Amino acid sequence: MTYRNNIHFLLNGKPVTVADAGADQTLLDFLRLTKRLTGTKEGCAEGDCGACTVLVGRLTDTGLTYEPVNACIRFLVSLDGCHVVTVEHLSGPEGRLHPVQQAMVDHHGSQCGFCTPGFVMSLYALWMATPEPTEVQVETALQGNLCRCTGYEPIIRAAVAVSRYGTPTADHLNTERDQVISQLRALRDGQRVVTGPADNQAILPADVDDLAEVLLAHPKATIVAGATDVGLWVTKFLRPISPAIFIGHLDGLKSVRQDTDGLVIGAAATYTDCQNAIAEIFPHLTPYWDRIAGWQVRNMGTVGGNIANGSPIGDTPPVLIALGAEVTLRHGATRRTMPLQDFFIDYGKQDRKPGEFVESIRVPRPAPGQRDAAYKISKRRDEDISSVAVGISVTLTEGVISSCCIAFGGMAATPKRAAAAEAALLGQSWSEQVFDKAAQALPQDFAPLSDWRASADYRMLSAQNLLRRFFLDDDDATTTPVRLTTA
Ligand code: FAD
Ligand code: FES
Ligand code: FES
Repeated sequence: MTYRNNIHFLLNGKPVTVADAGADQTLLDFLRLTKRLTGTKEGCAEGDCGACTVLVGRLTDTGLTYEPVNACIRFLVSLDGCHVVTVEHLSGPEGRLHPVQQAMVDHHGSQCGFCTPGFVMSLYALWMATPEPTEVQVETALQGNLCRCTGYEPIIRAAVAVSRYGTPTADHLNTERDQVISQLRALRDGQRVVTGPADNQAILPADVDDLAEVLLAHPKATIVAGATDVGLWVTKFLRPISPAIFIGHLDGLKSVRQDTDGLVIGAAATYTDCQNAIAEIFPHLTPYWDRIAGWQVRNMGTVGGNIANGSPIGDTPPVLIALGAEVTLRHGATRRTMPLQDFFIDYGKQDRKPGEFVESIRVPRPAPGQRDAAYKISKRRDEDISSVAVGISVTLTEGVISSCCIAFGGMAATPKRAAAAEAALLGQSWSEQVFDKAAQALPQDFAPLSDWRASADYRMLSAQNLLRRFFLDDDDATTTPVRLTTA
């Protein structure tokens, strides 16, 4: 197999080639230290504050998509074949401020200004995707941007007003779109990329078969999908990741496909890539999905990574287990499929051998009579990791609970089903008393830990009340607002 040892991308419309970039070099360091594009700021270096927000344009089935991402945890090599747009690239007509910038000025959306370039970039992306956003859409778009001094009200007013200052069709990212598409297409040579020194090596396989082959040769390599976990290993723990095998660019792993049986999510599909299909087939997951991280992280982080990292507090495993999802793993040319719940063996231990990778996740369509819910309890509403998360799927047949699956995150060393609570529901009729019994059975299923996120008692009480809430939310006869009771 031939390969190249450099990466090519566009930076603010201009071609850039970087020879021998190391696996752990971040886009933010490249922009600020190498290119001296210091408009992009470093706040937290962990994907939380949004000061480093840039847009990344990538080719998709539908053309060219620009998305805001966190440059601090995005590895440079993963930009091969993309268009990186920083705040320096914004311009309005005749050298005036860009409409987003002018709206921020006029609505007093900036005080110290440190967070402002990041806010401007998120609002730029929002304006291009949704020129007339509602306040809720603005709030969702800004979940990943932190401002410590201005306060959000003026920023939200600016965001809602941007369209009075200009139209996205006149923006240069749109007027130059065709040219950028052909430039990016020309960068796609279908070659494997191997770059960086031997102790900091990055490999970008040419396609999924090549990935399988590369992993057989480097079974202990670090797989990097969206890097929203792995990025922090580097920026916070200075952990070596070499050799690192990048998979986020692989079309063959990015597809999100519906068939008659359900939804098949490629392991490198991001949360954003899945959003429309989730809304169509599993609408109960839409508000839950919007509470996973912030917009920038959802544009990078993958469902595959959320499963493969084996975290007991990942948000997707409990809800996917409850829906009966299966995971397919691949080792060389060999594939095996298992129920997702069986993938998680113990804390830090998953059923994945060296050289094997998660290829896809299949989620069956809901059966007739199936009632589903997904709840997340966290300290902050947005941009926070769960203390407790749960997926609940209950099927009613002629008023009787004929099947149920309840899976919790944050309650054990792995995402785990609540077997005793499920047993308390099975074969019973739909009633508040039955759900109360299921809640009382939960201590047989879990002995949660106390940590700085939540105490064991808080976790157990929340989990019990979420079962009661499910009944009240889904009970056709309940018309009063949901009230939570203590055990
Ligand atoms: P990566 O960082 O690329 O990889 C994660 C792990 O999975 C690594 O061990 C990697 O080697 C392995 N891996 C990745 N893909 C594969 C594959 N196909 N096969 C085998 N191994 C693989 N998570 C939540 O659940 N809820 C949140 O609200 C949330 N908020 C966050 C907020 C911030 C600011 C940040 C930085 C992270 C947050 N996370 C959250 C964690 C993270 O975003 C998710 O776990 C995400 O889904 C990880 O996916 P990734 O593609 O970025 O994984
Ligand atoms: Fe805070 Fe990147 S520096 S998100
Ligand atoms: Fe100071 Fe936002 S203007 S942090």
